[in-house]
Amino acid sequence: MSLTIAIDGPAASGKGTLSRRIASHYGYRHLDTGLTYRAVAKALIDAGQPLDDEEAAIDAARTFDISDMRRDVLAAHEIGEAASKVAVMPGVRSALVARQRDFAAQSRGAVLDGRDIGTVVCPDAPVKLYVTASPEVRARRRYHEILSNGGEADEEAILADILKRDERDMGRADSPLKPADGAHLIDTSEMTIEAAFRAAREYIDAALDND
Ligand code: CDP
Ligand code: CDP
Repeated sequence: MSLTIAIDGPAASGKGTLSRRIASHYGYRHLDTGLTYRAVAKALIDAGQPLDDEEAAIDAARTFDISDMRRDVLAAHEIGEAASKVAVMPGVRSALVARQRDFAAQSRGAVLDGRDIGTVVCPDAPVKLYVTASPEVRARRRYHEILSNGGEADEEAILADILKRDERDMGRADSPLKPADGAHLIDTSEMTIEAAFRAAREYIDAALDND
């Protein structure tokens, strides 16, 4: 039987860090579904196609190599922005959701993180977490991330981008970001990574005990 842990939340809430930690602790595979949307966006940008070319986007969603997605290659801020634009297209979503479900089904245990894992991709997951943090805290995290990678950044501009992306992700008609039914809320605004992991482990261990 395959066991899936569904983790959703807005940009820079800490869901990726938490997902990797959980996957490594329980020996599960991890899929960062944000990378699948980023891969489609990058394929369009590289091919010089407009981001609203739905046919090209669906073709990219069906064909890109899911085993070769690297966050460093897909990390650019513009790719994140472009990803949230291709993510509003229902045809792109259904092609990617099918591939994400395959990943979960083929794993003994899997952690998937994104925006619609608990609501759409794996609604029957025995553990669903909704990870969040205030926009100001999330902007500060991204800011420090950029500085620690040797880059330059403007915290105000990052906050404005985060608010814009939240609006797009939470306001779209197809699969908007929201807590799934039965999701446990983890607000990491005042939490260390370790504290968030401890909170998640309690929910997961309780679900595994009931299995
Ligand atoms: O995956 P998501 O965009 O939700 O966020 P992330 O990449 O996991 O976390 C964004 C940044 O916040 C990283 O630099 C984490 O180290 C940091 N973070 C934190 O400072 N405190 C937490 N409780 C969780 C993440
Ligand atoms: O790392 P960060 O949280 O900034 O973003 P990401 O997880 O890489 O996702 C990039 C964009 O893809 C998001 O802003 C969403 O618009 C979209 N996405 C989505 O619609 N559904 C998912 N399951 C994952 C990402």
